[in-house]
Amino acid sequence: MKRIAVMTSGGDCPGMNAAIRSVVRTALNYEMEVYGIEQGYSGLMEDQFIKLESRSVANMIQRGGTFLRSARAPEFKEEEGQLKAMENLKNQGIEGLIVIGGDGSLAGAKVIHDKYHFPVIGIPGSIDNDIYGTDMSIGVDTALNTILWCIDTINDTASSHDRTFIIEVMGRNCGYLALMSAISGGAEAALIPEVPFKIENIIKKIKERYEEGKTRSVIILAEGVGSAGDFGKTFDMIGGFETRITVLGHIQRGGSPTHFDRILATRMGASAVDSLLNGESGVMTALQERKIELVPLGEVLNNKRKMDKKLLEIAEVLSK
Ligand code: F6P
Repeated sequence: MKRIAVMTSGGDCPGMNAAIRSVVRTALNYEMEVYGIEQGYSGLMEDQFIKLESRSVANMIQRGGTFLRSARAPEFKEEEGQLKAMENLKNQGIEGLIVIGGDGSLAGAKVIHDKYHFPVIGIPGSIDNDIYGTDMSIGVDTALNTILWCIDTINDTASSHDRTFIIEVMGRNCGYLALMSAISGGAEAALIPEVPFKIENIIKKIKERYEEGKTRSVIILAEGVGSAGDFGKTFDMIGGFETRITVLGHIQRGGSPTHFDRILATRMGASAVDSLLNGESGVMTALQERKIELVPLGEVLNNKRKMDKKLLEIAEVLSK
């Protein structure tokens, strides 16, 4: 294999640049040529290829976002878009592709492997940690540290005013960010899509905590549950509170990647190149018990991550 391409697709996450850097320098070390595809599947369909050298990824490991840029490209679901993309890969002389992104991006990679029999490796990148088969996706650790800084900051002012805050964090279908940040941020409750709850029970719990002497309360709500604004209105109406709402939004998706994310991205990038050279395809690099393993994309996409029951229990016990 002499020429490969790499792209980032879907929602960006901190650590994508570190993964691209690792792909580029690992491949160059094997005397392969590397091309970057700008704007994910959009760029693949529109022939946006740029040659990457070692200097192209210099001073990049610490930068958030993705310098190749990213996009959500529903056109790739159609055969017309796929044929354009495959034609471009062929014309550019690309022999293997590495796709960094979330579920949607990995689904695109599966099509390239299954339908067009083209060598492709996926790397999980999404702050949500909703990708099956890997303990952690790239970007999750950085997002959690950003959220934690926000919770700590809000805690200061919440304590001064004996206030209740509702903090909305990202996670469309997955409450991982909400649960983990609630535990590490000492919040009173984590409301996540995986676990049904009654608002009356949350109100009762918060009132009891104030009666026991707490001077502030923080509730972390995953966006998949609904909007914090709507939840807050009902919470105040039934419970007689005057909550303050903070929606963290895209602040969670930016920022310089943490040490953990830089190392994870670097290991996965190197493993993806090695895997292509070893003739692997249709698989995703995954962190499992500290090792980088390969998981078939079919397995990744046909399964849903389960919330760790022990962590749910810990969150409940420690929020007293
Ligand atoms: O999938 C990652 C994610 O950050 C979700 O948590 C969030 O719902 C979504 O992307 C936001 O997407 P966009 O940036 O396209 O609004």
